Amino acid sequence: MHNEIHPHQHSVTLEDRSRIKGHLPLVLWMTGLSGSGKSTLANALEYRLVKTYGAHTYLLDGDNVRTGLNAGLGFTEADRRENIRRVGEVARLMYQAGLIVITAFISPYRSDREMVRSLLPPEAFWEVYVSCPIEKCIERDPKGLYKKALDGKLSEFTGIDSPYEAPAAPEICVDTGQFTVDECVEMIIARMLEHQIIQQK
Ligand code: ADX
Repeated sequence: MHNEIHPHQHSVTLEDRSRIKGHLPLVLWMTGLSGSGKSTLANALEYRLVKTYGAHTYLLDGDNVRTGLNAGLGFTEADRRENIRRVGEVARLMYQAGLIVITAFISPYRSDREMVRSLLPPEAFWEVYVSCPIEKCIERDPKGLYKKALDGKLSEFTGIDSPYEAPAAPEICVDTGQFTVDECVEMIIARMLEHQIIQQK
């Protein structure tokens, strides 16, 4: 850090923000292959949190963030790392603002996800592994990208010619190949209630 930079101690605390919002802040970090259902699940979860629990949330999604903040970043290992680093910093700011932050990025490298985890208090970062067999993702292929990658028209595609490192010990694992979106949402909500992130309605 620059010697000339002196972070200011703010008077409004995270507890103040939580009290106003009526829930605890949290980062729910979804990771998984393209087509595993991260965005769909993140969207359904956010909807449920807002509509049923009146939570203050924000959803950061790869396909959206990559058109703005991270426009210009590609899919080399270095660019993916920078993508996740920036999103991690944004998630931390939103966490400090008292929000329940849901992120949906492939985030293929374990070390990058652990780096984001290290930015937050231990109870504030939940890694959510959106697990789905690659055969099923290829079958779904919602954006036609697996076909392109398999035809050799798209390189460095995750799961084809770029690695995906599955989480070793995620806080939550949801299997979208086996359960519906709603079932996966309810599993996450149940855990949030159990940990009193949100309160029963
Ligand atoms: S990450 O690896 O850096 O975490 P991110 O989640 O932001 O990826 O973006 C993934 C999305 O970008 C995919 O869902 C897909 O639509 C698109 N995409 C384009 N090229 C690639 C690629 N080579 N590998 C993976 N996803 C790609």
